[in-house]
Amino acid sequence: MSKDLMNLGDLGADKLAQVLELAAWMKKNRGKEQKALAGKSIGLIFLKSSTRTRVSFEVGVNELGGSPLYLDSHGLQLGRGESYEDTARVLSRYLHGIVIRGHAHDQIAAFGKECSVPVINALTDRFHPCQLLADLQTVIEKFGHLKGLRVSFLGDTACNMGNSWILASQLCGFELRLGGPKGYQPDFSQLPSWVDTSKIIVTDDPVAAVKDCHVVNTDTWVSMGFEAEAADRLKALGPFQLNAELLAHADKSAIVMHCLPAYRGKEVTAEVLDGPRSVIWDEAENRLHAQKALMATLFK
Ligand code: CP
Ligand code: NVA
Repeated sequence: MSKDLMNLGDLGADKLAQVLELAAWMKKNRGKEQKALAGKSIGLIFLKSSTRTRVSFEVGVNELGGSPLYLDSHGLQLGRGESYEDTARVLSRYLHGIVIRGHAHDQIAAFGKECSVPVINALTDRFHPCQLLADLQTVIEKFGHLKGLRVSFLGDTACNMGNSWILASQLCGFELRLGGPKGYQPDFSQLPSWVDTSKIIVTDDPVAAVKDCHVVNTDTWVSMGFEAEAADRLKALGPFQLNAELLAHADKSAIVMHCLPAYRGKEVTAEVLDGPRSVIWDEAENRLHAQKALMATLFK
């Protein structure tokens, strides 16, 4: 296992399975967990907005007996041009672990390498591994397993969530179909070299992307940092809206997932997002349990 978690591959398949088991345990035994972070200070650096990630990490560190320090770009000299390298060296002298949400993935990965303490990627433009831990935990809760399932990801499949589902599918052994128009399909050069790109199914046919799938996922069409392209994106991605008509092509047991924040009427209709197949609130809750399991593994 690597010192840092920049993408799910850093855990590897066996460790990932262990973290997911521990996440289920954390959920069942909330309040009875070992204080794995007792005496430890964990920095939470957020250079982009966050509701779920920030709060679930802060609560999670507290529940594991540690002290969270929330640091945003306005409060750090990083926001005024101090280098990532100097910030990494200094913070490593105080903190026992760092969680960071940032912009360019390579910059955050380099920041992790410069830190002598473990660093968790809390979202970059390329990957969102903590969300995937919660998502996989949620799928296991609903189906009992991951292997052999058919999972669909619709819309901007080139985004951090699409890339993260690709890694998860290869580590956990389920089929993944990415449904999005040309220009919004994954850039394989952004993926780690161990990914078998011949196994990735990409289609610009929304029906083929969801047909007989057990899990249907989508994400915002305008990820953080892409606001200037919003009008073009809404136009191009329109045919990939997750609505009742499209969902009817999925397996009859299908669940609907969305990492949130969601924009009803755009990537997903309110009817589907708030409907009986949606598991979005369990998915959001599982951020807490999955990240506690991750921190107990990586920050100990
Ligand atoms: N899903 C997710 O990461 O949400 P936040 O941006 O609110 O943290
Ligand atoms: N793809 C989205 C995920 C938000 C949690 C973004 O990067 O904004």
